[in-house]
Amino acid sequence: MDKFRRTALALGASLLAAGALMAPMSAAHAQATAPTNAKLKVGLMLPYTGTFASLGNAIENGFRLYVTEQGGKLSGREVEFVKVDDESDPSKATDNVNKLVKRDNVDVLVGTVHSGVAMAMAKVAKETNTLLIVPNAGADAVTGAMCAPNIFRSSFSNWQPGYAMGEVLAKKGVKRVATITWKYAAGDEAVRGFKEAFEKGGGTVVKELNLPFPNVEFQALLTDIAATKPDAVFTFFAGGGAVKFVKDYAAAGLKKSIPLYGSGFLTDGTLDAQGDAAEGLFTTLHYADSLSVPKDKSFRLNYAKTFKLQPDVYAVQGYDAAQILAIGLKATNGDVSKKAEFAAAVEAAKIDSPRGAFTLSKAHNPVQDIYLRQVEAKENKMVGIATKALNDPARGCKM
Ligand code: PHB
Repeated sequence: MDKFRRTALALGASLLAAGALMAPMSAAHAQATAPTNAKLKVGLMLPYTGTFASLGNAIENGFRLYVTEQGGKLSGREVEFVKVDDESDPSKATDNVNKLVKRDNVDVLVGTVHSGVAMAMAKVAKETNTLLIVPNAGADAVTGAMCAPNIFRSSFSNWQPGYAMGEVLAKKGVKRVATITWKYAAGDEAVRGFKEAFEKGGGTVVKELNLPFPNVEFQALLTDIAATKPDAVFTFFAGGGAVKFVKDYAAAGLKKSIPLYGSGFLTDGTLDAQGDAAEGLFTTLHYADSLSVPKDKSFRLNYAKTFKLQPDVYAVQGYDAAQILAIGLKATNGDVSKKAEFAAAVEAAKIDSPRGAFTLSKAHNPVQDIYLRQVEAKENKMVGIATKALNDPARGCKM
């Protein structure tokens, strides 16, 4: 064999050997990277029917807007949505969330609006170590006793807007307040937050009125308020229930004699339907219609262009849920299984929200300014900051 042939054979053999080596290597490589190149399955569990239907739609719109702004991909992964209508029904919540986790194998759960449903989602997310981003429900436990490295909230805790309004009314010198809300976690916790700050500031909650969610038969309770004659009323209602409550309160003639205050859900996304009945109402919330936040200007413009609708707080929370997901994915190269790296990145981030930039607490709840707003010409005008950088106490969170 001449030298040339020997070299050629040797080269061929080594190429073959290299090929043999490379084949399993590339298979292994493909296996390791396949999940991060595949479509990213986002499980949207939201109310699309019932009193919170418009809230669910606004959250989905906000989420989609952010994804569209990124070209439909997050960290190189095309985003695919799987949707479940949770009907704001806690009794169906575990089955609904299991459909997304076990049947559809979603990479991340995004939901929901109703606190009772969200707690069932958090339980399943914890047990299955599925990533969960809560784009509304304020259940204190989600970033309290149930807090977990894989659970995040882009919205608020029920305690936050209630607490801020308690401070506002105490500072104003209001002394006797009656509260009225739905009897479930969101109502109970909003009132508890309000009461904590209001009584610390020298006020007294003289009566706590309730009705079951999502009932809207307010007449007997309004009669009770008229008879009690408090200095003011504090309330939590949202969505369709808030529309009816604000109208009934005005129609009962109470609006002029007993000022009505609420956490800002009372007048967010509801003003067109409430009309004059809402004019002048003061509320506290982490968003308003008249912020001078540059990010808000572009967000509102894009939202209005895309959906032919004005955004509300729910749209902002949906948008920010997508931002939180994007931040975590960027740090993990699109791999949702890297929970610790995902959490570390989100915990270190300043989220560029239309509400104003915010950070997440150690328990993964927004630390944020709570605005005092007043309804003026169908807008929630920002009057001032009720409480700066308010941090939920995260009671019971061990993380
Ligand atoms: C809740 O159930 O946590 C909830 C629902 C609607 C809102 C706010 C909170 O607007």
